[in-house]
Amino acid sequence: MTTPRQTNAVVVSLTPVGAYHRLVLRAEGIAEHVLPGHFAAVAIGRPGASALLLRRAFSLHRADPVNATIEVVFARRGAGTAELARLRSGDELDVIAPLGTPFPVPPEPGPAVLVGGGYGVAPLIPLARRLLNAGAPQVAFVCGASSAERLFGVAEARCLTGRVAITTDDGSAGRRGLVTGPLPELIARTEATAVYACGPMGMLRAVTEVAESHGVRAWTAVEEAMACGVGACMSCVLPVVGDDGVARFVRACVDGPCFDGTRVRWDEAGTLPAGLEGAEAMGLH
Ligand code: FES
Repeated sequence: MTTPRQTNAVVVSLTPVGAYHRLVLRAEGIAEHVLPGHFAAVAIGRPGASALLLRRAFSLHRADPVNATIEVVFARRGAGTAELARLRSGDELDVIAPLGTPFPVPPEPGPAVLVGGGYGVAPLIPLARRLLNAGAPQVAFVCGASSAERLFGVAEARCLTGRVAITTDDGSAGRRGLVTGPLPELIARTEATAVYACGPMGMLRAVTEVAESHGVRAWTAVEEAMACGVGACMSCVLPVVGDDGVARFVRACVDGPCFDGTRVRWDEAGTLPAGLEGAEAMGLH
C-alpha cells in the first residue's frame, strides 16, 4: 500500500473544461506513487489548522513525476468547490495524496470497457493507459453525462481507442439515454473481461448489473462524500459484502473507493440497515 503524503501543494493552473475545472498542483513526492483510482483529499481554505478540518476528495486525473504535478477535475457544486474555483496560480493548498485503493489491473489484462459519468471519466483515462501498457488487447469507453457540456474526457478517450460511445440524458451529444445503453454491445464487440466504472451511485449500480448479466467483472469507484479522506470521520461508510459473505460498513476512503460492484449493497448505500456488522462499532446505530 502506498503511504500518502500531506503537503502544501502550489497551484500551477486552474482552467475551465466544459462545466468543470481542471486543477494542476505542484506537490513533491506524490506523483510517482499515484495509480489510477487513487484520489487526493484537498483542504478547503488556506493551509493552517482550520483548513485541515474540511476536505474534498477528488480522483487523480494525471500525475507527472517529472514535473512533480498532480491534476484533479472538479465541478463547482457548493461553497467548498466555489472556493477552489477562485484559486490562482501560486496559491497554496494543503493536500493529502495518493489515497484509497487503485483500480485492480491483472498482470495480463483482457479487453475492458470503461464507463464514466461526467467527470467520472477523469480517473479512467490513466486507467486505460495502464491497461494498454500492461497488454490489454483493447479498451472501449462509454462517456455519459446529463448534457453535452457536462461530458468530460471524450477527446482524450478518442486518443486511446477508436471505440468511444457517448450518451447524454438530453440527447445534446451522442446517443440519448444512459451509459448502460451502449454497454452490452461494447462488452460483446470487445469481448471484454472487465468493466471499470466511475460516477454516481445509481450509475455504478446499473453498470454492475449489466456487467454481471454478461458474466463480466465490474470494478466501481464510488463517489462518496468524503470529509477527511483518511478514515477518521466515518462520513463515507458503505455496506459491502466481504469474502466471508458478511456485509459490513466499510470506509470508502480507505477500503475503497474502488470496489467489486457486485459486493456493494447499492440499495442500502446512504442508509443504516438493521443488523449490518460494524454499524454499532462505528456508532451508526
Ligand atoms: Fe472520513 Fe472516509 S472520509 S472516514
